[in-house]
Amino acid sequence: MEIHFVTHNSSKYEEASSIAKEYNLLIRWYDHEYEEPQEDSLEIIARKSCSRVIQEKPELKTLNFFLEDAGMFIEALDGFPGPYSSYVFKTISNDGILKLMEGKENRRAYFKSVIAFHNGKSIETFAGITKGSIILSTIGDKGFGFDPIFKPEDNEQTFAEMTLATKNLYSHRQKSLRILFTSLTAFAKQ
Ligand code: IMP
Repeated sequence: MEIHFVTHNSSKYEEASSIAKEYNLLIRWYDHEYEEPQEDSLEIIARKSCSRVIQEKPELKTLNFFLEDAGMFIEALDGFPGPYSSYVFKTISNDGILKLMEGKENRRAYFKSVIAFHNGKSIETFAGITKGSIILSTIGDKGFGFDPIFKPEDNEQTFAEMTLATKNLYSHRQKSLRILFTSLTAFAKQ
């Protein structure tokens, strides 16, 4: 089965491609940058993005493809930036988040990943969550986005200190991807 991952983010593709190999699946990188609809649920953003990319790239209509939308939800900020993570990262980035968190004792946060998979006919969504905390200053130079300020629960390293293989043991994205890949391999065996 040929599966395409529609994303402009090469790091997301590398994470997904490495996990897909564990399932004997080969995923192809469909490099396309699309504008995300502004909604307050990642599921709705992912579904609407699927419809948007099909409009922009009509060849996708008959292909098996998925895309992914993620967000970081900070408890002390009532879930901010959540579905607005992309905009917030582009505008205030990690330093801006650390400023907003100055003086906050509750550092708890979680990442959520939602995959929307289009099987040529309909769209299904799969979600994964990883709990952790926002540290006091950036640490690490690997990964992307908020990786240098997020430390998953029961771990000494931020995502940005982890190798790709280690991030793939803990991340929100590996959880949603594993649900998708498990369902695809089960389907292929039928
Ligand atoms: P996106 O809309 O799914 O690309 O992600 C929203 C924002 O969260 C972007 O600024 C990403 O850089 C950031 N983000 C998404 N996934 C991760 C991750 O695994 N680690 C750190 N930041 C992430």
